[in-house]
Amino acid sequence: MTDPSPDPEIVHVVSVRTVRITQPDSATPLVIGHRGAPGHRPEHTLASYELAARAGADFIEPDLVITADGVLVARHEPEIGATTDVASRPEFADRRTTKTIDGVSRTGWFVEDFTLAELRTLRAIERIPHLRPGNATYDGRFAIPTFAEILTLREQLSRRLGREIGVYPETKHPSYFAGLGLPLEPALVTELETYDLNRPEAPVFVQSFETTNLRLLREQLRVPIVQLLAPDGAPADLAASGDRRCYSDLATPAGLREIATYADAIGAEKDLVVAREPDGSLGAPTGLVEAAHDAGLAVHAYTFRNESAFLPANLRRGAAADHGDAVTEYEVFLRAGVDGVFSDHPDTAVLARDLVAARAA
Ligand code: G3P
Ligand code: CA
Repeated sequence: MTDPSPDPEIVHVVSVRTVRITQPDSATPLVIGHRGAPGHRPEHTLASYELAARAGADFIEPDLVITADGVLVARHEPEIGATTDVASRPEFADRRTTKTIDGVSRTGWFVEDFTLAELRTLRAIERIPHLRPGNATYDGRFAIPTFAEILTLREQLSRRLGREIGVYPETKHPSYFAGLGLPLEPALVTELETYDLNRPEAPVFVQSFETTNLRLLREQLRVPIVQLLAPDGAPADLAASGDRRCYSDLATPAGLREIATYADAIGAEKDLVVAREPDGSLGAPTGLVEAAHDAGLAVHAYTFRNESAFLPANLRRGAAADHGDAVTEYEVFLRAGVDGVFSDHPDTAVLARDLVAARAA
């Protein structure tokens, strides 16, 4: 396991602040409950986050969007038809519309067209019931949580479980929301300060696929910043400004050094870390981990899922919804030196981490 720092805490000094990336110990990669534990419960519900923590996740990961009245809530995208029962609610039928978000046309119901009071009447549903039929058992059972409710849950779980549960919020489509007059960042900073989480030792990472908002947040937050890197395309803010840099440019050694001027880690899509062979099977590490570590950046890879539909070709077993050899996938990435994994099945991630550690002992 490559460790970018000889100390238990990776200390990264930037111009106006000192940030500490605190991990359980220097050799222990983080398990991040991606949208909670959506392999077991509908994503972005308090039940999903709680299960992730109870399964051993170090962090829970809410994706953040914002309501018409300016309240941060957890959804993966502005369109809420795929993950709530809004489509079956006649009182909201006239809210269905088509919008363009970061250049992509979407039709459905959009979070920014609902007040928090209206959103509270909706219930979460499973996004991919064909792959996670068991989760549909819980359709209609859980509300859409606010970021404040997630931070309250984080505090409660930390007390009950006797260990600090971290929170890893992602600002979703920040330029889009800013363009609507509903910027995410002021609300994010306010909520973190309300919960005493804007301090260097706080168990918090803040992430985004865009760059401009992270540079802004770096000046306002004293917690680690994470630049997300997608396997293709470009950050929406760069594209909108005429900057032609793509994620592939950001992932070069020079791009990583630039990221390190405002961020402390990268959140990299898995294929950027370990290549795929032409047949879809798992190939060799790309060298991104070493390059990022050389730039002083930690590396958190996304997204690990047990279902064969999401696994490399050589690790699939049975039908798409059947679980494959996910443990081997974790082992390959952990041996490649990643500092954390975003997982839909944090229980499996913790098990794989333990197995790798036991073999190394
Ligand atoms: O934030 C890391 C990972 O969650 C990015 O992917 O689309 O699931 O938010 P997404
Ligand atoms: Ca995310």
